[in-house]
Formats: sequence, C-alpha cells, structure tokens
Amino acid sequence: MLAIIGGTGLSELQGFEQLEKVAIKTRYAHAKVRLVRFGSGDKEFIFLPRHGADHKVPPHEINYRANIAALSDLGVTEIVAVNAVGAIRGDFLPGSAAVPDQLIDYSHSRDVSFYDGKLKAVHHIDFTNPYSESIRKRILEAAKTVNSHSKTSYEVMNSGTYACTQGPRLETAAEIRRLAQDGCDMVGMTGMPEASLARELEIEYASLALSVNWAAGLSEAPITLEDIHLVLEGGMEFISAVIIEIVQQS
Ligand code: HPA
Repeated sequence: MLAIIGGTGLSELQGFEQLEKVAIKTRYAHAKVRLVRFGSGDKEFIFLPRHGADHKVPPHEINYRANIAALSDLGVTEIVAVNAVGAIRGDFLPGSAAVPDQLIDYSHSRDVSFYDGKLKAVHHIDFTNPYSESIRKRILEAAKTVNSHSKTSYEVMNSGTYACTQGPRLETAAEIRRLAQDGCDMVGMTGMPEASLARELEIEYASLALSVNWAAGLSEAPITLEDIHLVLEGGMEFISAVIIEIVQQS
C-alpha cells in the first residue's frame, strides 16, 4: 500500500474520495496518529499530514517514529513524502521541484531509531542511498506526464542533496554557506529521521521537494512566511497533480 506524507502547504488532499479517517495508537506516543484513507477509482492510499491535521506540530516536535510506525501498522510499503525546502543550488529556483537522491542530516535531539536499546542486538541499516530509486523514478515519471498534459512546464530537478536542519528557526547565512560547501542543494527540517525510520521498517521511501525560498543569505530580500506561502500555493497544484498521477499508476 502507498502512503503520501504531506508537508507544509499540503495538509489536505483534494481530487480524491475520502474513504475513512483513521487514528492509530502506537507505542511511541500518547496521542494517536491521525491519517486518512483515500480512494481514486479502484486505487487506495493513505494520507498522513506530517504536521498534524491542523498544521500545529513544528518540525522538531513531530513524532517521526509514531508516524512511520502507524503507516507500517496499516500495511504501508511505499511512501512519497512531500517536503517544502529552501534552495541552495543556484538553478533550483523557488517554485520549482526536485526529487533528491542524497541527504545529510544536521538535525539533532530527535528519536532517530526503532532500535532503541530494548532490543537484544544492535542493528545498523544500510543507508548508502537514502531514497528508494524505484519510488524516485515513479515520481519523476509522474511529473513528466503531468508536464506533458499542461501548457506550462514545471521544472523538476532529478537529483540533489537534501540537508535536514533542526529548526524551527531558519538558518544563518554562514550555516547555508557551510551546507553549500558540504554539497547540499536544498535545505529543509523534516526529511530526517523520517527517511531512515522508513528504511528501518523496510518501507520504500522517496521525497518530492518543492523549493519555496532562497536559503538564508542567498538573496537580498528577507525570508518571509508570506512569500513562502505564496510560492507554496502556486506549487501545490503541480504537486497534487503529480500525486494523482502516481496513485493512478500504482
Ligand atoms: N530552511 C529550512 N527549511 C525550510 C526552508 C529553509 O530555508 N524553507 C522551507 N523549509
């Protein structure tokens, strides 16, 4: 079963038939994880708004373990995660999208593993390639199809390195210079430990990242939430169309 994890700008999904709201109790949180079962023709998938249904949970307080465990309990084997990011690479213009193929994790103080010491043996997953190549391909194919059906073509970068920072504050200009030197192309706050937790549970996982601003220090203008939301509104139409295409091809 496929799941879509929605990020900032994607707390709701339009264009699908809502079948059922589900609340799953996991051993990782007091509160239940709230998800929605959606249908589209004979297809079914699960939608999880990462920041909660009313977008109140900030990146550093998201219970990533509860979210991924709940999806696994529902039989999810594939995840397409949507992430809003700041652009570091010069040709990743705000308003365009990317399907990253690498990441560097700069976040901290998060519960990063299901192998949490109560187990008999220490466990290490292979994370050489953090994203599922087959899901990446499906996202890129879906984006190509959507572009071929619309008048204006939406730019989608087919690779890139995602930097996950702790947040919720945005970065300093020096931090972004360092990330650029490290080889990062985009920066967000929610990509990890989501991706590695999915790998621990053997769920195929990839991300569709939407560039919503130039990262700190890369443009003259200050970064404002108003500007970010304007770009998000424009981009989410494309993202939703890509999701519809992925579901139909699943
Ligand atoms: N930095 C970190 N996370 C983000 C940004 C950013 O500039 N934009 C959207 N998410």
